[in-house]
Amino acid sequence: MKILGIETSCDETAAAVVEDGARILSNVVVSQIDIFKEYGGVIPEVAARSHLEAMMPVVNKALSDASCNWDDIDAIAVTHAPGLLGSLLIGTLTARTLAILHDKPLYAVHHLKSHVYANWLDSTGENRLSPASGPLKSACPSFSPSARLKPIFPLIALVVSGGHTQILYMAGHNQFEIIGTTNDDAVGECFDKVAKILGLPYPGGPSIAKAALTGDASKYKFPHPKVPELDFSFSGLKTAVLRAVQKEVGVPISYPSHQLKELLNPKQVADFAASFQKTAVDILIEKLKMALEQHPDVKSVVVAGGVSANEVLRKALKEAYFPAPKLSGDNGAMVAAAAYYEVQSGVKSTDPYSLNIYPRVSIEK
Ligand code: KG4
Ligand code: ZN
Repeated sequence: MKILGIETSCDETAAAVVEDGARILSNVVVSQIDIFKEYGGVIPEVAARSHLEAMMPVVNKALSDASCNWDDIDAIAVTHAPGLLGSLLIGTLTARTLAILHDKPLYAVHHLKSHVYANWLDSTGENRLSPASGPLKSACPSFSPSARLKPIFPLIALVVSGGHTQILYMAGHNQFEIIGTTNDDAVGECFDKVAKILGLPYPGGPSIAKAALTGDASKYKFPHPKVPELDFSFSGLKTAVLRAVQKEVGVPISYPSHQLKELLNPKQVADFAASFQKTAVDILIEKLKMALEQHPDVKSVVVAGGVSANEVLRKALKEAYFPAPKLSGDNGAMVAAAAYYEVQSGVKSTDPYSLNIYPRVSIEK
């Protein structure tokens, strides 16, 4: 079954053709990063306008890269939630129109499901040959990292993106239970905000990771938030970095945060980036271990979302499944993969005349 997946929830215009939820025939991603670097973040109206311009060329390239015409496509899948309202509208209106025009079944997919299903795509998996021991194995004796190609159920998914930080329990395909979530900022958002304080370009995750390469991760100590159970909080960590930077450069807490970067030298930036990154990764691993202790039946752990591209996180969690780095961020292939498993689970296609968007809806709905 060949599915055309369309993704426009934030600032990437993406389309891909995927066969049977695994084999990527094409994967086209046009990023708006260069536009938003100038502003230091996404401007929703500009994002929607850029999606509108890029959308059809991206879809057409996805079809031609896959050597497909419309007769070869069995279904269309599109992100309808959550995300930026204007961005979601462009993707869904495109998918609805194409589904009507070419008479194809249409599947509406939740963005976080798609991120999780990036772990079922074939080209993923330098971490597939998992070591027998590591931080996760010691937390959960029945956890069995193996050389299997696909994750096995029941599993725990750590979803770490710019908008979400959640721990999900999956008993089987297309079954998602939220067992932990952030009370405030998402971890990716925290990377982005800390990067701003340090004067590093948007998006903050990759800039922090790069700056951290030459930094000393033990230079600054930041406290782990005291959040009960499997929930997270990242706004305190951002404030802790802000206060430490103010202290380091000798200014009061009332000093404008956007001017701090002018007082930092490259060594201090690298040390702050490395120390912050280590703390963020340690917090994620701490909660993941706790989740495994509470769910001793779990057989695999998958990590998903933009922050799963982070090398320090990948190295620390060798036993977990990660998407290939280029599939960690937003793309259409993961949307097609998620839709394939919805079809396999008996989910019915949606009416292209009435499909709605939901900028803020939970994966459990
Ligand atoms: O999943 P994604 O592409 O979009 C959302 O659904 O939000 O995630 C984007 C987030 C941004 O906050 C970005 O800074 C972060 O992922 N990110 C990273 C890395 N690459 C992207 N965070 C840490 N390390 C990275 N290498
Ligand atoms: Zn995403």
